[in-house]
Amino acid sequence: MWWENAVFYEIYIASFADSDGDGIGDINGIRKKLPYLKEFGIDALWLTPFYPSPKVDNGYDVSDYCAVDPQYGTLAAFDLLVEEAHQLEMRIIIDVVVNHTSTKHPWFIESASGKEHPKRDWYIWRDQPNNWESFFGGSAWKYDAATDQYYYHSFAEEQADLNWQNQEVKQAVFDVLRFWLGRGVDGFRFDVINNLTVSDQFIDNPVRKDGKQDHCIDVNQPGIKRVLKELNQWIKTVDPSIFTVAEISSDQLARINSYTEDGLFDTAFHFNLGSMEELDLEKLTRDFKEMSQQKKIPTLFFNSHDMSRSWQRLAKENRDIYRLLTVFLLINRGIPFLFQGEEQGVGDYLPQQLADIRDIQAKNKYQEELILSGESHALIMANQVNRDRSRGMLPWLSNQQSGWIGLAAVNQEAKGILADYQNLIRLRKTEGPFTAIRNIKLTGDCLSYQTESLQIILNFGQPIKHSLEGNRKTIFGNGMLSEDGHWVHLPAKACWIGKEQL
Ligand code: NOJ
Repeated sequence: MWWENAVFYEIYIASFADSDGDGIGDINGIRKKLPYLKEFGIDALWLTPFYPSPKVDNGYDVSDYCAVDPQYGTLAAFDLLVEEAHQLEMRIIIDVVVNHTSTKHPWFIESASGKEHPKRDWYIWRDQPNNWESFFGGSAWKYDAATDQYYYHSFAEEQADLNWQNQEVKQAVFDVLRFWLGRGVDGFRFDVINNLTVSDQFIDNPVRKDGKQDHCIDVNQPGIKRVLKELNQWIKTVDPSIFTVAEISSDQLARINSYTEDGLFDTAFHFNLGSMEELDLEKLTRDFKEMSQQKKIPTLFFNSHDMSRSWQRLAKENRDIYRLLTVFLLINRGIPFLFQGEEQGVGDYLPQQLADIRDIQAKNKYQEELILSGESHALIMANQVNRDRSRGMLPWLSNQQSGWIGLAAVNQEAKGILADYQNLIRLRKTEGPFTAIRNIKLTGDCLSYQTESLQIILNFGQPIKHSLEGNRKTIFGNGMLSEDGHWVHLPAKACWIGKEQL
């Protein structure tokens, strides 16, 4: 299938590219950047939500699934984007946020209008809350005085969870997917799809000794796979080439992979590596070994709109380490998902005061900490979980303006970093597809592995002499081959890729 060897690029629309001077990214801004994306080797774009939304969670609170938010453009502009991308042989997948809707969605407004309303059961209403907590902090239940019941929201209180036991909800979602398939999209990214509420057993979540809740009853509910299989199978009957990728709210490899069993998603986001807080080579190697054995092709990424950028988080602003991570992403078996700006090494944007924070999760954290420890500490704690960090406006021009959030930090080495990405994508295309990975080894701080024809050595540590498998010539990186061709000497924090000579 087309997606198995594609390089994806995530576009967080508000911060990507602005075409009309309001400082907010838009659809026409994406259209203008298509030649740039094509030129550096991108095959498919993932667009985060661009639907009408009150933007409590910046678009992940959808109030109309079948339209474009006027801030971002029009359906006509969207159609042009799809058409132009296709002309350039790039594909487009869109975000499907159907665990919840905005409370401003007409479905919810109707549901909340009275206990007898036919759409009452489209959401989860209960007389009494249980102990379930929202992933953004606080109780996941909101009292509605008008009807004297509570509704469930696993994220912000303005994001009400849909009731996936209700068959009409499922049909309504199929209609939404049909609408976008009709407009030519090539696939879907399903938001927090293991969170769907498909059970009516509202048992309390267990609480650990540290007071934190184990989200084991409110996610991955029994019966969820049946619903998700139906969804995926329906999509494949419309067109088997439509790609589906699941966002599973877990960093456990086994859990993530359980959503790619036969009949489920084509793949899922591998947060086990993607969201690592620190570069942990032992974990990386362990999980990499396991992922190389899995039947379904994994995703590979180190950035997204939900985490601090890898330039800071993993590479600690070190260009050489950043390059090693780029080689791992691109010269490997896996579907790389790049996040806008990482190809220029842009860094985190860090708000300096509460008024500058846009992320709901960070705002909530700030308020929680303020009560405990005062303003400056609250800001530090909020920024530790602040997703604004990766959402800074991309600094395309030196006089770039931002209309909704600060600018992402410019990397002085942006040009060289972009060239690395471009060269490695080219190499991926000429030497790939990489369908089998062997000999994964961690020797000290040096990770090595082999694809069908390449040997890859990523030296995260001090200078090293590494043995070679077979007769090889250097095709990327800096290493010095020994005269007998059995060894390569790598400087500190360097990589080397050798191709088998037959
Ligand atoms: C996952 C998305 O990536 C995140 O940005 C959002 O806040 C939650 N899902 C809720 O939709």
